Amino acid sequence: MTAIAVLTSGGDAPGMNAAIRAITKVASSHGVPTWGVEQGFDGLIEGAFRPLSRSNKRGAEAPIHEVEIEGGKGGTILGSSRSRRFLDRTARAAAAKQLADYSISGVVVVGGNGSLAGAHGLQEETDVPIVGIPASIDNDIGFTREAIGVDSALNTIVEACDNISDTARSHHRAFIVEVMGRESGYLAMASAVATAADAVLMPEKPHTREDVLDSVVSCIRTSFDAAREKTRVLIIKAEGVDVPTHEIVEEATRRCEADGLDYEIRGTVLGHVVRGGDASFRDRLLAGRFGRVAVEAALDGTGDVMTGWSIGVDVGQPTSDDWIRLFPIADVLEETEALLDGTSPVSIDRVERMEAIQGVLAL
Ligand code: F6P
Repeated sequence: MTAIAVLTSGGDAPGMNAAIRAITKVASSHGVPTWGVEQGFDGLIEGAFRPLSRSNKRGAEAPIHEVEIEGGKGGTILGSSRSRRFLDRTARAAAAKQLADYSISGVVVVGGNGSLAGAHGLQEETDVPIVGIPASIDNDIGFTREAIGVDSALNTIVEACDNISDTARSHHRAFIVEVMGRESGYLAMASAVATAADAVLMPEKPHTREDVLDSVVSCIRTSFDAAREKTRVLIIKAEGVDVPTHEIVEEATRRCEADGLDYEIRGTVLGHVVRGGDASFRDRLLAGRFGRVAVEAALDGTGDVMTGWSIGVDVGQPTSDDWIRLFPIADVLEETEALLDGTSPVSIDRVERMEAIQGVLAL
């Protein structure tokens, strides 16, 4: 084993730096140097490598200072990209050549679905083991209970919704809060449970514009019914529900006014606020455990696999960590599609659990 390379790819997620730190530390503890690849797969094509470890005074391999101190920070110290070039086989072959030129003998790719597909494609071009670590705030990756970044993003959303609820109750208002999740409603659904929201709108339950508006208006009317003594209505909407939040607010206000109801309705789009910020304790812990298993897999020569937080069923290859299993990336990509179209037993179970705990109506 000569050296490990690590890259972060796709949308950044809090905890990516913790994964980089863990990978570098674990590789160092095996006496293996770590190279960081800048700007994801684009950097791999171009050979944008920089050392993340060096030999210390005692001659032992150790992470550089930046890796140590930035481990808890949000974003990624290596930079990231959504590489369109990597879809092209010639670009992947160029990346494989860079690995050979730098004598890399194991690559860890930290990222979401697109990044895992890239890792799988790269594996077709090289014998160097490529190991994926799931990182995406959307929690839309198959065969892992959670990806890195989800817990931090949810903590940010919960804090924002609690703040919004304070002002909403003071003014007796209804709020539509939009959270990230272009294809996945997980953040909307999970935060709705944690904030006792009145309803959640998510892309897994397809609706027309009319359905969305009818449901929102009816939720606000029912919630503000005098008998219920409610002073706040909170509706959490995933970004992937393709009626813009401002349009929902304007149209719901218009419809309520037409019925003689002067409810004040407001909207807040949390956007990229959700993706930034320091990593939570749990994301740092998960990143550490994924990082260790990923390096061990690469050192063993096991590639084309992803580390996953065991989903409680007896699937995947056991590792040195009880929580963590390895899954072929091809299987992960297939399961991801089922997660996103709502047919995976995991998606069905999530919705059922949410309804049981919260009584939140998935509108
Ligand atoms: O990281 C995933 C995600 O947060 C989606 O929920 C969101 O739609 C998308 O990234 C936004 O990405 P970008 O910053 O590239 O616009």
